Amino acid sequence: MKILVVGSGGREHALSWKLLQSPTVDQVFCLPGNGGTAALEKCENLSLDPDDFDAIATFAQQQTITLVVVGPELPLAAGITDVLQKQGIAVFGPTQAGAQIEASKSWAKALMESAGIPTAKAGTFQDAASAKAYVQTQGAPIVVKADGLAAGKGVTVALTLENAFSAIDEVFAGRFGSESQVLIEEYLTGQEVSVLALSDGQTIRPLLPAQDHKPIGEGDTGPNTGGMGAYAPVPWMTDTLLQRVEQDILQPTLTALQDRQIDYRGVLYAGLIITPEGAPKVIEFNCRFGDPETQAVLPLLETPLAELLMACAEQKLTQQPKIRWKEGFSACVVMASGGYPGAYQKHHPITGIEEAETKGAVVFHAGTQLQDQTLTTSGGRVLAVTAVAESFEQALQAAYQGLSPIKFQESYYRRDIGQRKWPELKP
Ligand code: AMP
Ligand code: GLY
Repeated sequence: MKILVVGSGGREHALSWKLLQSPTVDQVFCLPGNGGTAALEKCENLSLDPDDFDAIATFAQQQTITLVVVGPELPLAAGITDVLQKQGIAVFGPTQAGAQIEASKSWAKALMESAGIPTAKAGTFQDAASAKAYVQTQGAPIVVKADGLAAGKGVTVALTLENAFSAIDEVFAGRFGSESQVLIEEYLTGQEVSVLALSDGQTIRPLLPAQDHKPIGEGDTGPNTGGMGAYAPVPWMTDTLLQRVEQDILQPTLTALQDRQIDYRGVLYAGLIITPEGAPKVIEFNCRFGDPETQAVLPLLETPLAELLMACAEQKLTQQPKIRWKEGFSACVVMASGGYPGAYQKHHPITGIEEAETKGAVVFHAGTQLQDQTLTTSGGRVLAVTAVAESFEQALQAAYQGLSPIKFQESYYRRDIGQRKWPELKP
């Protein structure tokens, strides 16, 4: 197989790394990739325009690419899958219609409500005045969400009415793109879990549950980021709870997509909150692999990834045997550029990765590039240092040990990944 991976983050490095471990994979191309994918054996970064889907289709045909795996949500929401599928190319990643589950929060909410999927109660509003009037009736805390894609920044958890009002004004002032709708959502409490599931449009199979750490600061303080660390599986997610997620959330969502004539082949990522009563509720759906959840989950996967993704693209997931996993746990700590998620500097040389790897860690690159043979920083999230071990505590410890020799100017990471108190769930 020859596989083309679209994207440039830590998620795409992890996908390329894992795909290359599949015995059937000869070559991976990454568009545009990063310093980590550039260094992978049998992996080549491409300099095509990632927004030119016709050029990608032509490349895929000329190179007889077996499968295109799309990492980020933006090309999916812009219809990359539709363009490639029309040319007869196998794609892992939903069509533009399917990507609405992430690209439009109001569309996703309507789907959940119609299918009876447990989620926060919400209202959708087209103007600030009616949104504010609704907030008045509901009181704070309350959650304000820009309807469209906002790179994880369109959500405000408002603790006061004033916060909610200014968040509504920001949405309609276009702070998150030309936005014409806002969702006002009930504030839920509990622990967040990400359950990523693979679907071929007819069947859906969950991967191991993972937990992300979104806020920049220790103790979950400060602004939200793309994710500062993750681990998998989640020790307190019981089999019963996972079965509920499958039966009450994943399966009915797939059915609701089918009812809308959507042939969903890709990842359905359920961002869940487990309420103090132990009930899973959907906070958001994403139409792609999570970042950094993927960097934590994939090192534990034993079934060849290429076979699973190809089975999704070819609607043959039911024929695949049960997904196999390594015993143990995986933990991943993100190293970021100082200042992220605000302004930060780039082009700082990075050292110590080889030493980290001799300590047994796997270092996935996100914002890195090779500049004249020197590896330098090129983004907010720079590296995701991952380790697998027998126990949860050992995996965390190994990830931090791996990280210790890695240096770049103004690097920042959270020291408390995996330290949240576990919820006391009713059996
Ligand atoms: P999202 O981009 O929808 O994942 O939201 C970003 C973050 O906001 C989530 O990870 C949650 O921590 C928080 N959040 C979103 N919706 C809610 C909600 N209804 N109640 C409480 N927190 C929420
Ligand atoms: N880690 C959160 C996301 O991928 O959306």
